[in-house]
Amino acid sequence: MKRIGLLTSGGDAPGMNAAIRAVVRTAIYYGIEVYGIERGYSGLIEDRMSPMEMRSVSNIVQRGGTILRTARCLEMLTEEGQKQAVSTLEKHGIEGLVVIGGDGSFRGAKCLTENYGIATIGIPGTIDNDLQYTDYTLGFDTAVNTCLEMVNKLRDTMTSHERISVVEVMGRHCGDIALYTGITSGAEIIIVPEVPYDMEDIVMRINRSRENGKHSNIVVVAEGVMSAEAFTKQLQEVTSYSVRATNIGHIQRGGSPSMADRMLAAQFGNKAVRLLKDGIGNRVVGIHDNHIIDMDILEAVSMKKQFDYELYETLQMISM
Ligand code: F6P
Repeated sequence: MKRIGLLTSGGDAPGMNAAIRAVVRTAIYYGIEVYGIERGYSGLIEDRMSPMEMRSVSNIVQRGGTILRTARCLEMLTEEGQKQAVSTLEKHGIEGLVVIGGDGSFRGAKCLTENYGIATIGIPGTIDNDLQYTDYTLGFDTAVNTCLEMVNKLRDTMTSHERISVVEVMGRHCGDIALYTGITSGAEIIIVPEVPYDMEDIVMRINRSRENGKHSNIVVVAEGVMSAEAFTKQLQEVTSYSVRATNIGHIQRGGSPSMADRMLAAQFGNKAVRLLKDGIGNRVVGIHDNHIIDMDILEAVSMKKQFDYELYETLQMISM
């Protein structure tokens, strides 16, 4: 393979830049040219791309966001959009494509391989950690660390005022950001899409913690259940403690990637190019039991995300 394309797609995630760097540098190592495609699949359809050199990726390993910029592209779901994307690739002699993104981005990659024979490799880049085939997605660790920092600050002020803080985190339909933030911040309650909540039980847990000498409470609510505002309203109706709502919002999508995310980025990017170099496409890379793995795209996107109920129970037992 002489030339490959690279794009980031969907919501950005910390570590995408580090993955871009790993892809470009590995490709250069093997004598493969890389074209950087701007704004995800939209850029592919609109032919917005340019060659990337060794120095195009200098000084980005520590930066959040994506230097290629990103977009959610509905056109890629249409036959016309896909044909246009393929004709751009053919025009530039691009034989393989690396797509850094989430579930939706992988489906676009799958179409390009299955319907048009373009060798594609997906790198899981999303803060949501909502892909079952990989233990972690790129950006999740950094996002949770950001949420943790925010919860630490909230705990200070909530304790001074003896309040309850309801903190909303992202994750779409997946409760992992809430689960990991909750367990590592010492939150008393987490509300996730995977487990129905019981307001009576929540109030009982809060009251018990106060009787046991606590001066504040943290409730982490996943956006897939409801907003912090809405939950605060419900909770305030059934408790005499003062409740405040905070939505961390897009802050959790930015920032310098953690060591864990930079490490994943290096390994994912490197593996993606090695696969293409060997003429292998239609795969996604990931990490399982501390090993870098690759898997058929269709198989990967068909797997249903499993929630870690044991971790949820752990939180229930140790946060009181
Ligand atoms: O998929 C990443 C994510 O941040 C989700 O957690 C969230 O639901 C969504 O993207 C927000 O999208 P937007 O940036 O378009 O508001």
